Amino acid sequence: MRKIVVTSGKGGVGKTTVCATLGRALADLGQRVVLVDADVGLNNIDVVMALENRIVYDIVDVITGRCKVSQALIQDLESGLFVLSSSCENPVVTAQSFRGVIDSLSDFDYVLIDCPAGIENGFHRAISSAKEAIVVTTPSISAIRDADKVLSLLAGYNLNIVNIVVNRVRPEMVAKGEMMSPTDISRLLRTPPIGIIPEDDCITLYSQVGRVPDFALSDKAFRLLAENLHFGNKKFYDYTKPQRGILGRVKKRITAR
Ligand SMILES: Nc1ncnc2c1ncn2[C@@H]1O[C@H](COP(=O)(O)OP(=O)(O)OP(=O)(O)O)[C@@H](O)[C@H]1O
Ligand SMILES: [Mg+2]
Repeated sequence: MRKIVVTSGKGGVGKTTVCATLGRALADLGQRVVLVDADVGLNNIDVVMALENRIVYDIVDVITGRCKVSQALIQDLESGLFVLSSSCENPVVTAQSFRGVIDSLSDFDYVLIDCPAGIENGFHRAISSAKEAIVVTTPSISAIRDADKVLSLLAGYNLNIVNIVVNRVRPEMVAKGEMMSPTDISRLLRTPPIGIIPEDDCITLYSQVGRVPDFALSDKAFRLLAENLHFGNKKFYDYTKPQRGILGRVKKRITAR
């Protein structure tokens, strides 16, 4: 079982998006995957996965003994992956009890833990139950600076592997020198990239239905991220190529048939 926390310094940089979409891409590779929402009090992975109407029990029910972990796992029928949702109530949850739940998921190949924003209790709980971390940042200076702070905090935990994902990359801006390139960001943070994800309107458009379509610009990027993680590849989305808009990509698909 690989226990991987997806975290960031700054909020809103794409942790939940990366967790959900990477989870699907790993499930497409035949892996048994569970996504755990560690944002106790502000649950949202169930919403991104469009599973919120099917939740009966959540992680707090498991921790407080109201149900077994198997009763709280919801399967996304399309991808086959499971979600352990968080609760909207916010009782005291210790790092130890949280880790106990994560460790009970040993039947899975991948446990992806969606870390809450900030560096308080929720952060500590999520990080201390993982063995690997993916730090998501965008190319903005404030996100990079916060990622740097988080990376130095992570050094104090017992993590075996730490990588970064650079999200919301805009190739045309990188080409014009208006946006820092993923290579420069990785160098600055002294941490290897495991994925580069472009800015993609499809992510926002399709977040309500729970799946980014395979013609989306970011689909290939997420597949490469999953393959890098699973097979140890080092292949990345090519941000130096000119990109088409959504309509251009749909047209390309139709004309290719
Ligand atoms: N590559 C991308 N292209 C376009 N929009 C994106 C991309 N990644 C994320 N977004 C959008 O950015 C918003 C924030 O993403 P998300 O909720 O995944 O961030 P987060 O880090 O989990 O936030 P929080 O810190 O609040 O938990 C969402 O509306 C999402 O659709
Ligand atoms: Mg989130």
